[in-house]
Amino acid sequence: MNNCDDLSSCSPRSILGLHKTYRSTLLVLTAVFLFSGCNAFVHDGTPPEWTDPAGTQQDVATIAAGSGGPGAAVFNGKCAVCHQMTGKGIPNVYPPLAGSAIATGDPVLPIRIVLHGFNGPIERGGNKFNGVMQPWQNDLTDQQIADVLTFVRSSWGNAAEAVTADQVKEQRTATKGKIGAYTEEELKSSL
Ligand code: HEC
Repeated sequence: MNNCDDLSSCSPRSILGLHKTYRSTLLVLTAVFLFSGCNAFVHDGTPPEWTDPAGTQQDVATIAAGSGGPGAAVFNGKCAVCHQMTGKGIPNVYPPLAGSAIATGDPVLPIRIVLHGFNGPIERGGNKFNGVMQPWQNDLTDQQIADVLTFVRSSWGNAAEAVTADQVKEQRTATKGKIGAYTEEELKSSL
């Protein structure tokens, strides 16, 4: 009994037979699907639109040449792996520091982020991020944090005033009991 209109009248064998007929087609379709999926991944890797702040290329050259001062060296060693030499980050993975309102605003906020880390959903330049940045309080001195933030705040078109080691020290003391990374809400309401 190979022909059956209704599944309930089919023997298990004829159902298998039916599957067999479509198995190769299914395999081909799956392969095509996977292949086009991978292709789409490769070709759609173009970052979403982002206005490149003036000076980006110039700053990359400065950092690469190791001539951007102590802050550039810290940035290169500790931050560029995620935020990139261009300061543009990676869309939807690591937020840009170029043009970042938080990085260039009240220095208290970026200081606290660097000391304790940053965590949870944020939206920047039309991209959503939901990552975790680790704390640096045990890895970087007040001076190194001041240097790297001064560098971030004056690179890739950013133009905010320098951060001093005293400002970092003050925040280290003020947030001493802080456990875990800041969320955006917590960070803003902590001011
Ligand atoms: C392992 C990857 C990683 C490294 C290394 C890293 N960050 Fe981050 N950073 C992140 C992520 C992820 C976020 C956003 C977290 C979120 O989604 O809330 C972030 C956010 C920030 C922000 C806030 C930006 C904004 O607009 O809200 C600043 C400022 C910042 N990082 C500075 C630094 C500095 C300075 C360093 C080096 C000392 C550094 N980061 C190293 C991953 C990293």
